[in-house]
Amino acid sequence: MRIVVLTGAGISAESGVPTFRDADGLWEGHRVEEVATPEGFEADPDLVLQFYDERRRASASVHPNAAHLALARLEREFGERMLVVTQNVDDLHERAGTHRLLHMHGELFRARCTHCRARPQWQGDLIGLPPCPECGVAALRPDVVWFGEMPYGLDEIERAVATCDLFVSIGTSGAVYPAAGYAALAAALGARTLELNLVPSDAAVPFDEVRAGLATVVVPAWVDELVR
Ligand code: APR
Repeated sequence: MRIVVLTGAGISAESGVPTFRDADGLWEGHRVEEVATPEGFEADPDLVLQFYDERRRASASVHPNAAHLALARLEREFGERMLVVTQNVDDLHERAGTHRLLHMHGELFRARCTHCRARPQWQGDLIGLPPCPECGVAALRPDVVWFGEMPYGLDEIERAVATCDLFVSIGTSGAVYPAAGYAALAAALGARTLELNLVPSDAAVPFDEVRAGLATVVVPAWVDELVR
């Protein structure tokens, strides 16, 4: 059996990383257009650089939870027959031990050079525009895919979704495409679909099964069933 797991902000919520759509429509006090669009970056680069510098600092002090750890355990069982596709920019999956992982919306702990396109690992601040370690030009931005930009790895993700037997969506509201369309694609090509989320999402095509609850409870329970 081949498994594709799609994760969203809900899997990291209990680690202390805020989700996007559960609170007041603001993201850490900002409108999404200000801090998560190319236009917002053009209008006020310092605000955007500072925003992601703060997110990076906050993410450094959080830890993977039982749901991240359960997925790493599942990968140890399934190896190459499993792929995690995450919309999250935090590094909690890799810190939990997941290796077969695609960050379709980029990574908080990388920068991207708009001059030479390098994507260096990045722990520190981007405000003040440190030079790109590859080309030396002061053209670094957060390696986060903003609204209106192309996510990473789409071909590889679509191939994996199209050939999986089980598609599992964890902790995502299903509001943002193309990720929101993967369950329907998997189902159309014959896979079973399962949603593990705090509340059932408004999926365009219903999942075969929905288990509502906290990720730290429902994900380990599901993994236990599979590897038993
Ligand atoms: N356990 C399980 N699910 C949870 C938990 C939890 N502890 N807490 C919240 N959730 C669920 C919510 O019910 C919601 O359905 O997680 C989902 C989070 O949804 P969003 O905040 O919309 O996050 P996500 O789906 O990852 O957003 C997609 O939008 O702006 C962006 O690019 C950003 O990658 C992000 C994308």
